[in-house]
Amino acid sequence: MFNNFVYQNPVKILFGKGQIAQLSKQIPADAKILLTYGGGSIFQNGVYEQVKTALEGRNIVEFGGIEANPTYETLMQAVELGRKEGITFLLAVGGGSVLDGTKFIAAAIPFEGEDAWQIVTGKEKYKTAIPLGAVLTLPATGSEMNYYAVISKKSTHEKKGMGGPLVYPKFSILDPETTYSLPPRQIANGIADAFTHVMEQYMTYPVDAQIQDRFAESVIQTLIEVAPKTLENPTDYEARANFMWAATVALNGWIGLGVPQDWATHQIGHEITAFHGVDHARTLAVVLPHLLQYKKADKRAKLIQYAKRVWNLSGTDDELVAGAIQKTGEFYESLGLPIKASEYGVNKETIEKIKQRFVERGMNFGEKADITPEVVAEILEMSI
Ligand code: NZQ
Ligand code: ZN
Repeated sequence: MFNNFVYQNPVKILFGKGQIAQLSKQIPADAKILLTYGGGSIFQNGVYEQVKTALEGRNIVEFGGIEANPTYETLMQAVELGRKEGITFLLAVGGGSVLDGTKFIAAAIPFEGEDAWQIVTGKEKYKTAIPLGAVLTLPATGSEMNYYAVISKKSTHEKKGMGGPLVYPKFSILDPETTYSLPPRQIANGIADAFTHVMEQYMTYPVDAQIQDRFAESVIQTLIEVAPKTLENPTDYEARANFMWAATVALNGWIGLGVPQDWATHQIGHEITAFHGVDHARTLAVVLPHLLQYKKADKRAKLIQYAKRVWNLSGTDDELVAGAIQKTGEFYESLGLPIKASEYGVNKETIEKIKQRFVERGMNFGEKADITPEVVAEILEMSI
């Protein structure tokens, strides 16, 4: 059944060339700003310069060093700085990790509980957050237009999602030219992540939600079409712009309205990152093809639809199902992402640890909540 839904997305998007120049108007005049960034790419590609020029004369403190898969340990240093400096606005400049980390900082600065990690575990609710905005330099996560963040804790090898309407960015600036400096590995990761976001919301069972289905298919087709172009020619503006917008709409809530959602691939993938430090998107490539194989009976109708509409395949239903799964794996491989978890050292021992973790958390996944810890282990065994 086409489910009921309520949808509101308050994020203002400023998209296109030169939009960083609009920055000052987006932030209250009297704000004390904490500018957050990652490992330094913004200094090499001129984005830092553009941001500083746009914010000339404004009151700014800086915090750098937010790592890929941002850690609680690093972010708490920013929280301390933010409290000490009386920060009233956060500006994240970077990829999904910087944006996610900044959402955590936004909730943690005013948090009065004992242990801010509880914001991530959900054990304690945060009641307020410092407003934030973003300049995105890596299309992938959709973090620029959603309220999710994924935070890691080094000490316990955990990686968990948090979120809520309080940490929606007030605005996000998306200038495709800021992404020209991305290395091919990050472009490939970004395409694979966005592709998988669509699949998590689309590859379930049909509920006759025609708009969401066709929208999802168009996002996937766009990604398939622009992937080789944008990898080959990083300064092809149109290809990069289409990729950037595709990544945003893949996870701004729109395509998931009223439809069942899976998200098992992400949940399993986060554990692979937690134990083996593998790039987020690369974990998805090693899970989804095997998950589809395992769940092909439950997902049959959608696999057939996807085979026909996205990949233009023909044949018997069985052939379409097999073709759809094969094309999915080949797509990741065409981006240079392996589909075997064994490539990253995942073995029976890791699989057992991941299974135990889900047993302890009492978690099942998938659109029918039937991906139990035992099923997770079986899927992962197919991938080693
Ligand atoms: O740290 P710097 O020096 O900036 O370098 C980064 C980093 O090394 C570099 N980079 C970013 N923009 C660049 C650039 N290098 C050159 N030119 C540029 N323009 O790229 C590297 C990776 O950056 P990162 O932010 O980690 O990548 P991504 O955007 O893929 O984010 C991944 C994180 O987002 C989480 C993932 O789990 C992972 O922690 N996710 C967040 C989601 C959300 N908020 O909704 C959903 C996703 O499913 C995902 O889980
Ligand atoms: Zn993702």
